[in-house]
Amino acid sequence: MSSSSSTPRVGIIGAGIIGLSVAYELAVRRGVRVTVQDVRPPGRGASWAAAGMLAPAFEAAAEPGVHPRLFELCLEGAALWPEFASELAARTGASVGLDETASLAVALDDAEAARLARIAGTLALKGIAHDGLTGDQMRAVEPALSAEVRGGLELSTDFRVHNRLTVTALLKALTDSPKATFANGPAPLRSVGGKLVLAGHDTIVVAAGWESASVKVEENGQLYSLVNWETALDEIDCHGGQMLSVKAGEGAPVRVVRAGNIYLVPRRGEVVIGATMERDRVIDAPEADVIDALRLAGGALCPGLADAPVVESWAGVRPGTPDHAPFIGPTSTPGLFVAAGHYRNGILLAPVSARIIADQILGISAGDLAAAFSPHRAFAATA
Ligand code: GLY
Repeated sequence: MSSSSSTPRVGIIGAGIIGLSVAYELAVRRGVRVTVQDVRPPGRGASWAAAGMLAPAFEAAAEPGVHPRLFELCLEGAALWPEFASELAARTGASVGLDETASLAVALDDAEAARLARIAGTLALKGIAHDGLTGDQMRAVEPALSAEVRGGLELSTDFRVHNRLTVTALLKALTDSPKATFANGPAPLRSVGGKLVLAGHDTIVVAAGWESASVKVEENGQLYSLVNWETALDEIDCHGGQMLSVKAGEGAPVRVVRAGNIYLVPRRGEVVIGATMERDRVIDAPEADVIDALRLAGGALCPGLADAPVVESWAGVRPGTPDHAPFIGPTSTPGLFVAAGHYRNGILLAPVSARIIADQILGISAGDLAAAFSPHRAFAATA
């Protein structure tokens, strides 16, 4: 159905941070009418489970098998965050907890030291400032660190935001906007004469994370999965994660600390300790032995956390793709766009994904970097 005004009306399927950011960019910033549809309460999936790290270097500078331009996209994403955060705070009257203090990537063993050397190599090649610190220099910067820490990198590219406050602010900004509507339940998607239709909308954005392929479409009274229309969605897989938070007492870190797969993120009186990466696992609830192991690992990095009381433990599911980079852009199905598969970088890439999708919907050139994340790209390298 065509909209009565000159701008499109956009139906966004998925109310995680990606869907909400696309809605915010379109409705609040550009005045386009949107409906955000989700079967679950908005913002309570992977966006809520996340730790809030905005970490281009640690996640994308030297990861084997990732999209060759993911680091560039992550840097562009990070560059948008300060304005995104301050604008959200100004609109909603509440901080989203952006903290631009440099993160610390530390090594306790040879494997971690080798990983940090690869990250430092990429940063040096690109002329990006970073500091290599000895163990003692690390402890001078972050006294909570264990004596076992050998050294590492201070990464000014990598910082943090409070992801739950961000989601809450996006919801408030959208609820306050006359251009945005929320709908709870399955999107009434239909296939009519081979054309995908969401009544009352010109354009559809699927941003349903790891469930994007299985969004339902009604055709002749039967329900089918969206992947039957857009086969690229079949590439989106899932990676379960478990984590916990502990009370931040004496001996808690004040910086984000990364060591291999373990991270510590200070967050409003707590420290988040994460996380597992469990391929093809949808985990409904955290498992006690896994949470204990994470807690031990956190204590090995910062001994002051070893006996800190647990505040909360939880599990979430990250959506991935074969090259660990998101699908952003138009699909081969007329009127259908996708913004999904953000892997470990959903919070970081929310503002840039939203900007790209909004530009593309409105017919504004989103640039060659955006085109590199088309859902129809070839997967040259796989992890
Ligand atoms: N971004 C960290 C994680 O996905 O665990």
